[in-house]
Amino acid sequence: MGGDNVQWDSEQEEAAKQKVEQNSQITINEDELKNLEENADKHWDAFYDIHQNRFFKDRHWLFTEFPELAPDNTSAPVRVFPEVVGNNTSKTNEDPKSEGTRRNIFEIGCGVGNTIFPILQYSRDPNLFIYGCDFSSTAINIMKENPLYDTNRCKVFVLDATATDWEVPFEENSLDIVVLIFVLSAIDPSKMPSVISKIYRYLKPGGLVVFRDYGRYDLAQLRFKKGRCVADNFYARGDNTMVYFFTQEEVKELFKEFIEDQNLIDRRLQVNRGKMLTMYRVWIQAKYRKPM
Ligand SMILES: C[S@@+](CC[C@H](N)C(=O)[O-])C[C@H]1O[C@@H](n2cnc3c(N)ncnc32)[C@H](O)[C@@H]1O
Repeated sequence: MGGDNVQWDSEQEEAAKQKVEQNSQITINEDELKNLEENADKHWDAFYDIHQNRFFKDRHWLFTEFPELAPDNTSAPVRVFPEVVGNNTSKTNEDPKSEGTRRNIFEIGCGVGNTIFPILQYSRDPNLFIYGCDFSSTAINIMKENPLYDTNRCKVFVLDATATDWEVPFEENSLDIVVLIFVLSAIDPSKMPSVISKIYRYLKPGGLVVFRDYGRYDLAQLRFKKGRCVADNFYARGDNTMVYFFTQEEVKELFKEFIEDQNLIDRRLQVNRGKMLTMYRVWIQAKYRKPM
């Protein structure tokens, strides 16, 4: 991990715990909760209506932390020619990929493509195919309009990952990698195990999950005001999108059927000199493999 990854002491942990106890005292009222749950996808649609593809741009860590996503990556992006990749009839590949040789990546909660497009740009693997889903149809439409969206190399579709049955354009046991980047935190904790069990079903034996998400006591958690708490460590933002803050143990428990390749905490100091505040960004990063 980067050099500014910091440890913190029991005093800092205690101060954070107190802040969370305070902002969790009052939970959101029932009517609001109903709206949050029933319209979760609509709240993300509204988010993307406002931000379009200008949010979540910072992906400098993507290939250093998850080299598996583009193992043939060289430092320079593959040159892409909009006139070649910008429409659905484009051909970038002389040899059409057969199902057998494909390396399939599936990103859940792909948003507007801030992970998928960098992979498409950097990977030189002719056998790579990337699927992406999001329950926000606005996000999926924005993604499809991007000149980098190349139907020879990727396919995105609307899917609520918490649905009982997944309607997906691939078979069970067919995925090499599933990407979960700041998406599980947006899902009600009670529904997370069912999402993980679907991931298990669709991964190949030996296939990998790469995960990065908010960690317990991240500054975003400490900044919540009273009345925004939905359940323990689960909050509704001002725009009604929701966010959970994980511990390493919880992530471990969620992936208990998998083999753990990595489960680490990435904590970075963020100093606000004006307000004399010391706060931390806290992320959990993990890799879990489906047994052979
Ligand atoms: C914090 S954003 C992260 C987006 C993207 N992974 C990134 O890092 O740029 C969370 C995304 O998860 C999507 N999402 C939340 N709950 C979902 C669900 N149940 N099924 C599918 N997508 C969901 C949201 O629409 C949103 O695009």
